[in-house]
Amino acid sequence: MKKIVIPLLEWYQENKRDLPWRMEKDPYYVWISEVMLQQTRIETVIPYFKRFIGEFSTVHDLAKVDDDKLLKYWEGLGYYNRARNLKKAAIKIVSQYNGEFPQTFEDICSLPGIGEYTASAIASICFSLKEVTIDGNVLRVYERLTNSYDNIDEMAIRKKVRLELMKIIPSNPGDFNQALMELGEVICLPLGIPRCDICPLNNFCKAREKHTFLNIPVRSPKKIKKNQKMTVLLLICNGKVAIHKRDDRGVLKNLWEFPNISGMYQEAEILQYLVDCSFDIDSITSSVSYNHIFTHLKWQMSSYIIHVKDEISDYVWVDMDALLHTYALPSAFHPFVKEVEKELKICNG
Ligand code: ADE
Repeated sequence: MKKIVIPLLEWYQENKRDLPWRMEKDPYYVWISEVMLQQTRIETVIPYFKRFIGEFSTVHDLAKVDDDKLLKYWEGLGYYNRARNLKKAAIKIVSQYNGEFPQTFEDICSLPGIGEYTASAIASICFSLKEVTIDGNVLRVYERLTNSYDNIDEMAIRKKVRLELMKIIPSNPGDFNQALMELGEVICLPLGIPRCDICPLNNFCKAREKHTFLNIPVRSPKKIKKNQKMTVLLLICNGKVAIHKRDDRGVLKNLWEFPNISGMYQEAEILQYLVDCSFDIDSITSSVSYNHIFTHLKWQMSSYIIHVKDEISDYVWVDMDALLHTYALPSAFHPFVKEVEKELKICNG
């Protein structure tokens, strides 16, 4: 394995992408980007990162932000607890470390929401500490290089890969880690045919030699997702739509949503339900259906557009501008935002 280090680093020097958090090796930037990158592809992260850093340019700004605003800047990225943990960690950095990012691996790991992956990325990239970053890309590259059929979802295997890479990590560990991740992202592809012809490590790759690369890495079978049906009520009145805040437990806790009820219903059933809730109804029409897939869960959603006579006080009634710019509405509800926008345009002529 030692033989891979130099060609890997040379390839990285020549091919590394120009990413906005790579300029200065600022731990604040690297931290935010790595947390975003845990859940989303680089191309998606770049605009989120720029917007986030544009608004919260220092750890002090992040420590002070109110939760609704923070979540609005995270809207669409999912895993909203990660954003809440960013703020908690920012508060700790300000109060316990005087606003300076901690510089030892243990101190970085002690921050809320920072696990081994993020800590090793920050420690190696910003402080040149010899810590290996293990993500899905690194595991795939390693397993293919060694033609290993180990299951990468097992903790013991991740630990083994980490120990093996620790044996060869060079004195520029940040470049080494990023090179391995990047090689996995752009050359040793997870889906489809890897680009072995242009891979700097192709001469060392056992899976290429044995033509086994499409069977590697081995993973545990995916768990079946729980299916939940729901009916979304797009309640419209005076050019506004009703939203309310989800409760503080479970999936998407404390985020905003359109009112909804569990199960799929016919128009007549919805009308009866709304009358029981004391709504005075002008009209009801069936609108779009949409399936949203979470990590462990699938929401099967149908919707109705309902014009009502009164802004009932159980909800917050918002115009299009506030809906788009003030309230953090998770992606699961975004297809309905488009329908509301069309409807409000029609109402407002
Ligand atoms: N994927 C996640 N973090 C990365 C990084 N720092 N460089 C390249 N790819 C990454």
